[in-house]
Amino acid sequence: MRKQSTILVTGGAGYIGSHVVLQLVEAGERVIVLDDLSTGFRDAVIGADLVVGDVGDIALVSRLLREHACDTVMHFAARTIVPESVADPLRYYGNNTCATRNLLAACAQARVQSFVFSSTAAVYGTPPDGKASEDSPLAPINPYGRSKLMSEWMLRDLGQAGGPRYVALRYFNVAGCDPAGRIGQSTKNATLLVKVACEAALGKRPQLSIFGTDYDTPDGTGVRDYIHVADLARAHLDALAYLRDGGDSTTLNCGYGHGYSVREVLDAVGRANGEPVPCVERARRPGDPSTLIAEARRIRRTLGWQPRHDDLAFIARTALAWERKLGQPFESAEVIRSVPTRRDGFDPAMPPRNRVYAPGASLR
Ligand code: UD1
Repeated sequence: MRKQSTILVTGGAGYIGSHVVLQLVEAGERVIVLDDLSTGFRDAVIGADLVVGDVGDIALVSRLLREHACDTVMHFAARTIVPESVADPLRYYGNNTCATRNLLAACAQARVQSFVFSSTAAVYGTPPDGKASEDSPLAPINPYGRSKLMSEWMLRDLGQAGGPRYVALRYFNVAGCDPAGRIGQSTKNATLLVKVACEAALGKRPQLSIFGTDYDTPDGTGVRDYIHVADLARAHLDALAYLRDGGDSTTLNCGYGHGYSVREVLDAVGRANGEPVPCVERARRPGDPSTLIAEARRIRRTLGWQPRHDDLAFIARTALAWERKLGQPFESAEVIRSVPTRRDGFDPAMPPRNRVYAPGASLR
């Protein structure tokens, strides 16, 4: 039987990382989260210990890897806002590229076996036919995409030099929230369509701006491949199983392989809420491709990944349900997380709350 090891999850208090942590814990994995809480939330980490710190801190990461005997790292910690990356590129190359370089140095030193990397469809830039396969040209059009692509290259080069085997997952448009309503997307000043649409639907902002109605698409608005965060999280567990089985390093698109327009997304959120989302038509947003859809066969073939929530209505319902809970008085937040703990501290329905370590504290 395989000896149980620990998985280090960087950025595990963020939107996608926290959903992966939840599924790992539910699958019986031992997880430790490293997050600086710059955009993450400590309450989003359920069932795993949280170390508050910087992923680029080689000494800290080395100590964590050693003390917890980690053989796997899942790396989510990054900044992800495209316009912010254009305005402040060095911050992106620092937080995303340089920090990943340091993390990889610690992994190499600790002989970490497996690495799952959170990459992005932004590495493709604007493919002419709107569909990107893993073999499409890599032509990011913003510092965010370039910062991630450089990390992919480091991972590949290190792997070839005897470093960890890896799966790099290129996410398309991630949306929706934990179907059981325990965690969700809590990002402040959100820019992503589904999140912004939910905020507008619930009156948290006056309206949503539709960026461009004159694209060469069926209804004139931009088309994207929206993937439910729970399916995306599952792909990470499948990647873990693949690497443990000795699978070769690989890079895979994470999407459903078909797209929806902005108007279709707004219709879905409007239907989930029972009334149309207030919106206004605006000019195109600079740098937006008209269509971006994953060629998504390879991930199914390679990992055996089988999505369960390829359903825009479900994405809208789970996103809206979380948005309703967010910002409600303390009482409701408690209800979401109330854990009926057994005497031994284990609850099969929901993992126990995490312990939080401040920087410098003993980690065990
Ligand atoms: C982009 C990046 C993606 C990154 C994400 C988060 C590319 C190709 N993709 O996704 O890798 O993870 O940002 O920063 O760079 N829209 C509106 N109104 C809004 C918001 C969005 O009309 O208020 C439209 C956009 O014009 C677009 C679609 O909705 O057509 C999706 O936009 P968004 O959710 O921001 O994600 P992307 O820009 O596709």
